[in-house]
Amino acid sequence: MDEINICSSGRVISRVFVGDGIAALEEHLDPYRHVFAVMDSNVAMQCPVAQEIAEIMNHKGVPGKLIDASEDNKTMDTVMDICGWLLDNGADRDALVLAVGGGITSDMVGFAASIYKRGVRFAYVPTTLLSQVDAAIGGKTGVNFENYKNILGVIRQPEFTYICPQVLESLPYRDFCSGAAEMLKTFIIEDAGNYETAVGLLNAMHKEYVIVPEQDAAEYWSDCVSAHACELTPLIAAAVRVKAGIVSRDQFEKGERRKLNLGHTFAHAIETLARREAMTGDGAPEKTDITHGEAVAMGMALAARLSDRIFRNDMDTPSALEERISEDLRACGLNPDSPFDVEEMSQAMHKDKKAEGGKVHFVLIRSIGDVAMQDLTVDEVCRLLA
Ligand code: GLY
Repeated sequence: MDEINICSSGRVISRVFVGDGIAALEEHLDPYRHVFAVMDSNVAMQCPVAQEIAEIMNHKGVPGKLIDASEDNKTMDTVMDICGWLLDNGADRDALVLAVGGGITSDMVGFAASIYKRGVRFAYVPTTLLSQVDAAIGGKTGVNFENYKNILGVIRQPEFTYICPQVLESLPYRDFCSGAAEMLKTFIIEDAGNYETAVGLLNAMHKEYVIVPEQDAAEYWSDCVSAHACELTPLIAAAVRVKAGIVSRDQFEKGERRKLNLGHTFAHAIETLARREAMTGDGAPEKTDITHGEAVAMGMALAARLSDRIFRNDMDTPSALEERISEDLRACGLNPDSPFDVEEMSQAMHKDKKAEGGKVHFVLIRSIGDVAMQDLTVDEVCRLLA
């Protein structure tokens, strides 16, 4: 098992364990006397490892709560519901709240634990690739409010994050690919070697998956993840290591941590437009049904084009870097092409919560493994990308 620490002022503030089966979770919980578990109800039903976790919780006499961890339900109401349940079950200042689920679950449970009795301890068992490499690492917690994603929240570190790659065997292919986009993002930021390795592995898995008849796809995918676990696990650990390093140097996102938003300004705009289209448009799935990771893939392709315009004066569409990254994303089963044009995205980008003083901190790619931040107005970006 890999142990990766997140540090601040020379002190370990959060630990990430990667790689063992789920049974060892029990010993990581042993030091905590009062554990309360909150689990995504879908995960509880569909993930065999979650059923093993439920057995561990039963064995330890841990009270459990199921939540509906959907984007629509990522609200203060759900956080209050979790706090009410903690109160009803006598959770005290020495409680540890364990979240089992994807990023929506960890964001909400981490936030509830951070405000309950002015903050109790919490830990995560992330059950999606996206949460294993991103959402459950680094302490961002929060909920959506007034049509803004994650606008209410705090940065507060979990005691530990326990990553069991085996849970990915029951993760649908599309969700796996969404997580792969965040993994590739992390390697574009800081690890060119593992970027190549990840593209190679994800491409091999994608090629194996797409030839299987639809009716056998889910079962085949599970076997495929299991067969490639020994190559996937070190990549998950490598992505965690990159993120842990960045968070250790800049926990509260004053500078370097902004690099982790590579592609995200575009991605958030794409997600906002997709939600709007779902409510008002003709419902075409390519414009309404876009996951966060899929939007990040599209955002990274646009960030590559913007980078080429700025660093290399490459005015082609697609630019050379955009072409390379788009090709890699396609090889990994991701679509790099945004269904919305830059003009459509511009209004949503103006409203991005990360915009400060009319400028947005854009993350630009110098080369794979080397990024830089630059403050640009949305209008400048639209002009450069046109
Ligand atoms: N997901 C980006 C961050 O944690 O900073």
